[in-house]
Amino acid sequence: MKKGLFISIEGGEACGKSTQVNLLKEYINSLPNKNDFIFVREPGGTSLGEEIRNLLLNYNEDKPLPMTELLLFCAARHQIVEEVIRPALEQGKVVIADRFFDSTIAYQGFARNIMNPEEILKLTQLIIGNVRPEKTFYFKLTPQEAFKRKSNCAPLDRIELEGMDFHERVSQGYDYIANLEPERFIIIDASKSIEEVHTQMINKFKQLI
Ligand code: TMP
Repeated sequence: MKKGLFISIEGGEACGKSTQVNLLKEYINSLPNKNDFIFVREPGGTSLGEEIRNLLLNYNEDKPLPMTELLLFCAARHQIVEEVIRPALEQGKVVIADRFFDSTIAYQGFARNIMNPEEILKLTQLIIGNVRPEKTFYFKLTPQEAFKRKSNCAPLDRIELEGMDFHERVSQGYDYIANLEPERFIIIDASKSIEEVHTQMINKFKQLI
């Protein structure tokens, strides 16, 4: 298998991840080899995955049961891995994923406590096979800081609407996986200004590509 590079981007609510992903896209668009990069987002990124995203984040009928929620995230992930990420890596591309399996450890493992993290890692292994991010940018922000920011954000989805306890557990989940795989995690201090966070990220990014 010709090998590309797989990078994921992670963080809790209101950590500025979307802004930073957009700035990274602008930076990559300015590169002469911009066609060597592709961006994907999770959940989503395929036709089926986007439908699942809508069910997960905007479904207004009965709330999905916790296990249903976990399996829907996994289903969307399997689809994007096999339809998009694996083929792109085989072509030697750099794939940048806005969220990947660490989100499931943090949100469904720690915050919802559906399964313990070791079990989620086993399930993940079945879903992604050998398609694992080599590096993960984690935008770290305390839930307290995030909550201050969230009051300025416009409409929140079903998961963003969860309370402070939930988001504290999300943060603990990210700390757990970052401690488990310190060589993969690149921790970015997301409490700084947009420009400072972007600079931190780009400096690290340039060392990877
Ligand atoms: P986004 O706002 O970064 O696009 O993320 C969508 C939401 O889905 C966010 O609240 C985190 C949540 N999520 C999970 O709970 N588990 C997962 O595995 C993924 C990928 C996202």
